[in-house]
Amino acid sequence: MDAISVIRTKRDGGALSPEQIDWVIDAYTRGAVADEQMSALAMAILLNGMDRAEIARWTAAMIASGERMDFSSLPRPTADKHSTGGVGDKITLPLAPLVAACGAAVPQLSGRGLGHTGGTLDKLESIPGWRALLSNAEMLDVLGEAGAVICAAGDGLAPADKKLYALRDVTGTVEAIPLIASSIMSKKIAEGTGSLVLDVKVGSGAFMKNRDDAAELARTMVGLGTDHGVRTVALLTDMSTPLGRTAGNALEVRESVEVLAGGGPADVVELTLALAREMLTAAGLPDADPAKALADGSAMDHWRRMITAQGGDPDAELPTARERHVVPAPATGVLSRLDAYAVGVAAWRLGAGRARKEDPVQAGAGVELHAKPGETVREGEPLLTLHTDTPEAFDYALTALDGAVEVGGAFTPAPIVLDRVD
Ligand code: URA
Repeated sequence: MDAISVIRTKRDGGALSPEQIDWVIDAYTRGAVADEQMSALAMAILLNGMDRAEIARWTAAMIASGERMDFSSLPRPTADKHSTGGVGDKITLPLAPLVAACGAAVPQLSGRGLGHTGGTLDKLESIPGWRALLSNAEMLDVLGEAGAVICAAGDGLAPADKKLYALRDVTGTVEAIPLIASSIMSKKIAEGTGSLVLDVKVGSGAFMKNRDDAAELARTMVGLGTDHGVRTVALLTDMSTPLGRTAGNALEVRESVEVLAGGGPADVVELTLALAREMLTAAGLPDADPAKALADGSAMDHWRRMITAQGGDPDAELPTARERHVVPAPATGVLSRLDAYAVGVAAWRLGAGRARKEDPVQAGAGVELHAKPGETVREGEPLLTLHTDTPEAFDYALTALDGAVEVGGAFTPAPIVLDRVD
């Protein structure tokens, strides 16, 4: 077998055989297939697609490239959630302790932000002392102590995906449904969760800009999970405007704590509860009441235990940015559009995200929204506050926000959950 014949098969529109897939994934993981060869293959897959059998084999080969975790010793059913990434998407923070408070164990392996979408680990690292890197034994200890753990995937889990994802990120080959589905599902299946709820984002701030693509991605991932014995459900959810009223690391932690305290923005609460209900049902706990666990403080109690068990201080003051800049509303009327992608790019340029994997992020940087679409704003009053430690970034952020705001246009309230795939 050789890389060139595998690339040619896909370049010419053919289906890769199981042997070709197993060989290329294994050889790439070992370094026997070069990055430039894998990029050519990824581009051929992006352009020519893969059929269901190819995607299933590709995913299985990525799982087989590393270790599989096993949570079967836990006394509780396991449930996990994965979001395809969005702007202001802090849902994992309140959701994991909430579902733990309702009786499931939540082993949540999360990622860092790249580009305009934020990452759960970057957000939690704004809590002084909190550690994202845990050994498998530490992960089990935190799960035992708090019922939920949020941490980075170890190097041993789907190493083929780790390499391939970094390569796709710099070769314009992220937005391929077979590659996204196999990337996400190989990690989730290798992680060993019994059930999985996928939050597939649709809209300007998401990888999938339209509903048909999002539905196809959801169906592909649900099929992969089910074929590997993981009870998998997907919700298609709106990402045309940011979730909640903040985009940025410490800003989002603060908002998540408000949700756990029984307050917080209505859209964040609604989506957290919708995903919690799906996770609890998939875990075999359909009678649990997540709204009660938010109201009675038990979700907050699990959050505090989880943060403490990972070295963080849940009472510590969160970092704030050194500089602020207020963006006023351009007119009086109903805010009819506030574009998620533009806000995500602005937060990223202010320092909340990174341009390269190895860059640091600013804990306090980001965008605060003083109004959401559907609310009335007054000309000249604050609409957004930009936060950063590096004030030279204000200009870049303002450029990104050019054209992102519309007042007085047509506004149709859209539900946050658009569809369900199982
Ligand atoms: N998240 C992943 O883990 N992989 C992708 O390909 C896209 C988003």
